[in-house]
Amino acid sequence: MDEILERRVGCATLTLKDVDDKERVVSGWVFRYRDQGGVIFVDLRDRSGILQIVFDKSADASLLEKADGLRGEDVVLIRGKLRARAKEAINEKIPTGTIEMVAEDLTVLSKSKPSPIPLDDYDEEPGEEQRLKYRYLDLRRTPMQEAVRARHELYNYVRNFFNENGFWEVETPILNKSTPEGARDFLVPSRLNPGDFYALPQSPQIFKQILMVGQVERYYQIARCFRDEDLRKDRQPEFTQIDVEMSFINQNMIMDVMQKMILGSMKNVFGIHIDENVSRMTYRDAVETYGIDRPDTRFSIHLIELGEWGKTTEFKVFQEAAQNKHRIKAICVPGGGQLSRKDIDDLTTWVMGDYKAKGLAWIKHTENGLESSVGKFFPDASKAELIKLAGSKPGDIIFFAADREEIVFATLSALRLRLAERLKLIPEGKWNALWVIDFPLFEWDNTEKRFNSQHHPFTSPVPEQKDLVKKIGSRHVDEIPQEEREQIHNVKTNAYDFVLNGVELGGGSIRIHDTELQSAIFNLLGIGKEEAKTRFGFLLEALQFGAPPHGGLAFGVDRMLMLALKRSSIRDVIAFPKTQKGQCLMSQAPSYADEKQLRELYVRSIAKK
Ligand code: AMO
Ligand code: AMP
Repeated sequence: MDEILERRVGCATLTLKDVDDKERVVSGWVFRYRDQGGVIFVDLRDRSGILQIVFDKSADASLLEKADGLRGEDVVLIRGKLRARAKEAINEKIPTGTIEMVAEDLTVLSKSKPSPIPLDDYDEEPGEEQRLKYRYLDLRRTPMQEAVRARHELYNYVRNFFNENGFWEVETPILNKSTPEGARDFLVPSRLNPGDFYALPQSPQIFKQILMVGQVERYYQIARCFRDEDLRKDRQPEFTQIDVEMSFINQNMIMDVMQKMILGSMKNVFGIHIDENVSRMTYRDAVETYGIDRPDTRFSIHLIELGEWGKTTEFKVFQEAAQNKHRIKAICVPGGGQLSRKDIDDLTTWVMGDYKAKGLAWIKHTENGLESSVGKFFPDASKAELIKLAGSKPGDIIFFAADREEIVFATLSALRLRLAERLKLIPEGKWNALWVIDFPLFEWDNTEKRFNSQHHPFTSPVPEQKDLVKKIGSRHVDEIPQEEREQIHNVKTNAYDFVLNGVELGGGSIRIHDTELQSAIFNLLGIGKEEAKTRFGFLLEALQFGAPPHGGLAFGVDRMLMLALKRSSIRDVIAFPKTQKGQCLMSQAPSYADEKQLRELYVRSIAKK
């Protein structure tokens, strides 16, 4: 048996050219099985594909009997000879459709219980819960085989790319000190250091910067990251980044290298061509025009500025907005006139529930002019002006949002996407890439009344604003007068995001390589000296020992695969993903830890089960 395995070839590696008198050995899983009047056909499947095996009537009785006992997913080894199929038996749909193997010997290597999920592409897709529970079976299905293989090929390309460009692959620790990227940490109690915890890395950020201080100059890693955050279709608690850091570079240099890597892999691994002239848009332009910092630019619905125009109407919602210094913006949706009253009501309920909008005023542009329940508040001149500003035509609909800026942006950006999908305004097969640049340093958290880093606290302000940040940030944020806080609010950074079809694929920045500036940032974030020392002391210290100017970027591998393979969730491109509740349905993680184990770790649970 063992020697025979040495002669095994992949089912779908065989072709018409291999049809001869030689004995061949194939091995794999029984896929489809048919008994046609005593002739038994088995489609044998392995990771290369499918080969049809024939157990002819002329075969000896014991072989036929064995073949008769086969069931789906049994693992078998078959010896036999290839022959060309009769013309009428040719199956154009599979690569081995012109040949078949006449079995001369069959060994059952392993029996299978009936699969609880259908594995055939012709069957209806099994439910996700079942797929995740029986992932080892799901992995045999074509979509998962494709995903696992594509990831392997992507890594292969990426490693070659970086190796050819002078990068070193370096591993950074998983048992870590906390690396803040805006999510909660996963903690691991330390048995050897009672009461202390490791944090799993949210990214290799601090360590890769320290590698730059350590004279590595060009680093990359295919890095696992862990973030305890609310999960969605493009967010998993553990995921993979293509992580990069470079010394002695400016923003353009790193964007160029990374763009070559990403466009190269899309082309060479997935056959997806993305135009090399990737446009660059400032953060401000992105949010003003699309309401979001990761705009989907494949369709041209833009946010229309109506602050001034609103004042020309008699609509109280707009007048109040003007009084409160709120924003008024709108989108004009081509062909949206077909939406019914009920559709509009449903959209209104949705934006009020999910985006805190106070309503969703609308106007339909019909052959008879503008029609709307609030139309009576718009004088004719205002209506004419609106048509001009919105560029609307008969058949379109205009939706308005008047509110605080963040609500207006969130509402209209979500609405524009939802309607584009619904009205099929997004062209198939289009790939629009974009760099978003000039991100603000901080965003203001109105509930907590403090600044948060827009990217992470190691991101450098643009050179011309560094001195300002150092000056204002020499005090703790609580001691800074309002006026100076406003100035900080307007500081821009050398940070950049790569966006593909409205998905943020990657982001990075030029870093701070100067302790004084880094301390100022911590002050502004309200992180006191002592706290900064405890949390990031090692980085602050490292920066004092000759830190080169440096910067980097990280791409989300899972999101890249999701887009390239046209999947609707990153769960479909990860071999063993977690559910929305962070559970693995196959292994049942996370799970109970027994008292003894917890005691050794100096941990006591207060959860009530
Ligand atoms: P950032 O936090 O923007 O930057 O992450 C970079 C990219 O990682 C992917 N990503 C995720 N993918 C799946 N699930 C998640 N929960 C998740 N979170 C992030 C996204 C994102 O664009 N250290 C910095 C990079 C740098 O500055 O060099 C960082 O981690 O595709
Ligand atoms: P109301 O005067 O509150 O009955 O609202 C009249 C119309 O304006 C309704 O279609 C509401 O959905 C819409 N509306 C109310 N508030 C807002 C707002 N802040 N922005 C946009 N539309 C609104």
